[in-house]
Amino acid sequence: MSNNYQIETKCIQSGWKPKQGEPRVLPIYQSTTFKYDTSEQMGRLFDLEDSGYFYTRLQNPTNDAVAAKICDLEGGYAAMLTSSGQAASFYAIMNICEAGDHIVCASALYGGTYNLYAHTIKKMGVEATFVDPGASEEEISAAFKENTKALFGETISNPALVVLDIEKFAKVAHEHGVPLIVDNTFATPINCRPFEWGADIVTHSTTKYMDGHAMSVGGCIVDSGNFDWEAHHDKFKCLTEPDETYHGIVYTKKFGKGAYITKATSQLMRDLGSIQSPQNAFLLNVGLETLHLRVPRHCENALKVAEYLKGHEKVAWVHYPDLEGDQYHELAQKYMPNGTCGVLTFGIKGGRDASVTLMDHLKLAAIVTHVADARTSVLHPASHTHRQMNEQELIEAGVQPDLIRFSVGIENADDIIADLEQALETV
Ligand SMILES: Cc1ncc(COP(=O)(O)O)c(C=O)c1O
Repeated sequence: MSNNYQIETKCIQSGWKPKQGEPRVLPIYQSTTFKYDTSEQMGRLFDLEDSGYFYTRLQNPTNDAVAAKICDLEGGYAAMLTSSGQAASFYAIMNICEAGDHIVCASALYGGTYNLYAHTIKKMGVEATFVDPGASEEEISAAFKENTKALFGETISNPALVVLDIEKFAKVAHEHGVPLIVDNTFATPINCRPFEWGADIVTHSTTKYMDGHAMSVGGCIVDSGNFDWEAHHDKFKCLTEPDETYHGIVYTKKFGKGAYITKATSQLMRDLGSIQSPQNAFLLNVGLETLHLRVPRHCENALKVAEYLKGHEKVAWVHYPDLEGDQYHELAQKYMPNGTCGVLTFGIKGGRDASVTLMDHLKLAAIVTHVADARTSVLHPASHTHRQMNEQELIEAGVQPDLIRFSVGIENADDIIADLEQALETV
């Protein structure tokens, strides 16, 4: 958006720009295909000589409008939607990696992302080294190899709630001539815009706060356009040398700052096809329109719940970066002074079994494999999202066996606390 609107205005107005007589509300372009008058016109689209829609697997106007809104919220240059956050994490890496390459990742990660990077892409020939997010610049640097193509981390990790020192990670990435890719799902651009701190590419599971109502799975990749691929030509030949599947187009030459997203759309999406359905993109847009109202309320409620739990005799520990004294409070204040997210973690005295008992007695908070939506929800990562990990991997990912992940919704905080109160009585 070529203006300086505040983020609240962008949540409502960015993206869809109706022309004279067009619908005020973003339409759902529920069409797989788009019509052209001549064969020549269609052919030029296939050669990337003209921009335009021809098949929804590559691009769709509803999706593009929503991607443009998220791009604007993040302060990026170009963006694309994907079918899920997992697809975004996969594409973000595989757009610049191939068999024989390597990435470095902060070890505090969402379990699905850990699985993807530690195991699945390894089978495709791309290896990952995991570093402690609290490690020094030298230690992170030591994990890099000749073939390293990216550094990856989560702004606020799920569920360990480690706040990434984005500037530190960006510095190390750039010293090694690779982009920093940040998953900004938990913070959302309302609370943190990683590009302002040096990150190059941002990914999202839009399934979480962006959708906000647990209605549609989706993902997004946003490129800042700031990383100079040409300056590291030998590392990123996939962007700086001819793509024979498009008659020798060189993405950086033809699309400049749009090279990364154009390649991801026209090559990966073309071949792997993890498009977000226009229907889901429409729902996502409705969610985005209230993101600026919901996120502060999530944070306000979560702080009240965290303070309540901290004062409770049966609670062994509480972790919430907005709490004074929390290990990540200082980093949270630096990168997210208006609040982090609505998710907190805690453990009950009595360990894993006591934590599970508490969860089973909650009435308002539901046990769901989901996080970051309007309804309060709860999960035991060691038994659920992270159950594929062994004890050592759990600890490296910052997931203690007794850890309860509590995703505070936007109900009345007193009701959420009363629910916890009655459940704690049963422990
Ligand atoms: C931080 C983070 N990134 C990525 C994902 C994957 O997103 P999705 O479930 O939309 O595939 C999740 C899912 O919980 C997540 O929490």
